[in-house]
Amino acid sequence: MTHKNARSITKAVILCAASLAFLVTLTGCGGKSIRDHADAKGLVFGMAVRPGDMLDPQRAKLLKEHFNLLVAENTMKMQYLRPTPTFWNWGDVDMLVNFAEANKMKAKGHTFIWHAQNPPFIMGLNSREAALKAMTETITETLTRYKGRIAEYDVCNEVFEEDGTLRNSVWMRNIGAEYIDIAFQTARAADPSVKLILNDYNNEYAGTAKADAFYALVKSMVERGIPIDGVGLQLHMMAKHPINETALRETIRRFRDLGLTVSFTEVDVRIQSPVTPDKEAEQESVYATLLGIAMDEPNVKSFILWGYTDAQSWIPATFGGYDSAHLFDREMKPKKVYRTLMDMIKAK
Ligand code: G3I
Repeated sequence: MTHKNARSITKAVILCAASLAFLVTLTGCGGKSIRDHADAKGLVFGMAVRPGDMLDPQRAKLLKEHFNLLVAENTMKMQYLRPTPTFWNWGDVDMLVNFAEANKMKAKGHTFIWHAQNPPFIMGLNSREAALKAMTETITETLTRYKGRIAEYDVCNEVFEEDGTLRNSVWMRNIGAEYIDIAFQTARAADPSVKLILNDYNNEYAGTAKADAFYALVKSMVERGIPIDGVGLQLHMMAKHPINETALRETIRRFRDLGLTVSFTEVDVRIQSPVTPDKEAEQESVYATLLGIAMDEPNVKSFILWGYTDAQSWIPATFGGYDSAHLFDREMKPKKVYRTLMDMIKAK
């Protein structure tokens, strides 16, 4: 080998190493991200976001590198979207939908009809007519504005109590159980392309009162021709409780048999403080089991996380003594569990 050849080879090796180092810095994970593999495998891997996430360059970069669907953690709820009957706060939603489109991500809607995070004019409703008007206007205005641009929507959220009875919400009190059917019919009429979802928590294990009531309602909606495309299992889990795979798969399959999709809509796995390596291993196992099932069951269509960084999480404020539920640490560096999930998608 001549000196010239040796110099060229050395130069090429240095260039390759430099490019690799750049990619490692870029993603923190050796040049590929979960999104790269999810895109390649057709997996929808999503994230709940706050408006500031898209405005902050570091966070915005992280979101587009690692996820291919965005859902608003709060800004599409009535409290923010429509704080008075006549004021519509489209700005934050426009930003989310535009950001998603600019970065070839899907946008998801969350949520029209819920018992929580409603403005005073909704909480003060006291007639069927007024409640129907508020509900149908909100759904129709929103879906008309974003027609064809939102992939899926949690039309109604958390309609059940833990014992499987319908929750005594402002919608239930004013309209009766029929409010759920009407919400889905209104959504379908406004935008036939958006996938309509009924979303809840503690509805993942077949055989429990809430999961069985949730299933019975959805089955009756399908049988009565109410336009519903899928169900959402929120899956806010605890690291110390291993997933009951049999009961979760039974839930997914009974919705498959109704012709419906299942979305894992709000996945997080919280750890009881103090965080230890053993507890992180338990967390990793819960995340990996959920992702394995999502990739394995053909009617599971999306795997969406409810928060990416422990620096900005709903968990500590809601569950005292719990923390560290997400894939990125407080410095927004991916944790070991991130690599585990990425390798699973890559190997699929
Ligand atoms: O906007 C105010 C801000 O002005 C104020 O300074 C701050 C002080 O606490 O509060 C801010 O509002 C908070 C809001 O999140 C926005 O950050 C509320 O206090 C807080 O209660 C609210 O929590 C949200 C929660 O829904 C409300 O129920 C969480 O962020 C959000 O992650 C959570 O999301 C729900 C899903 O929609 C449905 N499934 C369960 C899931 C977790 O509870």
